[in-house]
Amino acid sequence: MERPAFVVLTGAGISADSGVATFRGAGGLWEGRRLEDVATPEAWRKDPRLVWRFYQERRIALTTVRPNPAHLALVGFADRCRAAGASFLLVTQNVDDLHERAGSTPLHMHGELLKLRCEGCDRAAENRVDLDPAIYVRCAICGFDRLRPDVVWFGEMPYFMDEIMEAIDGCSHFVAIGTSGVVYPAAGFLAAGRGRGAKTYVQSLDEPENLHPRDRFRPGRAAEAVPSLLDELARDSGL
Ligand code: OAD
Repeated sequence: MERPAFVVLTGAGISADSGVATFRGAGGLWEGRRLEDVATPEAWRKDPRLVWRFYQERRIALTTVRPNPAHLALVGFADRCRAAGASFLLVTQNVDDLHERAGSTPLHMHGELLKLRCEGCDRAAENRVDLDPAIYVRCAICGFDRLRPDVVWFGEMPYFMDEIMEAIDGCSHFVAIGTSGVVYPAAGFLAAGRGRGAKTYVQSLDEPENLHPRDRFRPGRAAEAVPSLLDELARDSGL
């Protein structure tokens, strides 16, 4: 049997059980707020104070949350893959650091809240200390007076696209966890996996927009459903 190759994509739903707000739906970050006002390059140019405050508040919120059993189960699953010589790639749309705190090394295709980037010299660096919503941070390298959050805004190109598409192109199993399947290009990964003949699995509280009858859908809360889904996947693929 050919060695299995797994690609797992996570979205806001995997961190919901840790207390991080999702984007869509009741209580989501986009409820009562226009994403164009805080999550676009135009918004940053027009009203940087509003955008800075929005992301600083989310950076502060990270200090009070921790990984849940779904994040942890992915670490155990990656270990099993490594031991069996199977390939495993974790891609996340999330800008929180809960995967890292659990022990994973994901590709953050939408950037990271803990990093700030300079539009003067284009360097991004981790910053966990400057959390005041009212004070901008100056670039320590080139002196540019206002670092931006290192997150991918609407209208910008997500990170790691070549690496991600190459992995999907060679995967035998594609798993989407906690994502509504409406924001592209990430929402297209499931169909890409299906198209290349991979077995596809979807775990989420609600049916995502991009769900297809061929996908194996596991409804429920990630903290409960993901560990059992990954156990089953490991067993079925002989890990
Ligand atoms: P969404 O907020 O769009 O969707 C969250 C998904 O998680 C929904 O399908 C929910 O049903 C599901 N969900 C909620 N609670 C859950 C739980 N406890 N367990 C499992 N699933 C749960 O978040 P994303 O799909 O990640 O992009 O959003 C995609 C992108 O849209 C984000 O990365 C962000 C946003 O605008 C940018 O900012 C560029």
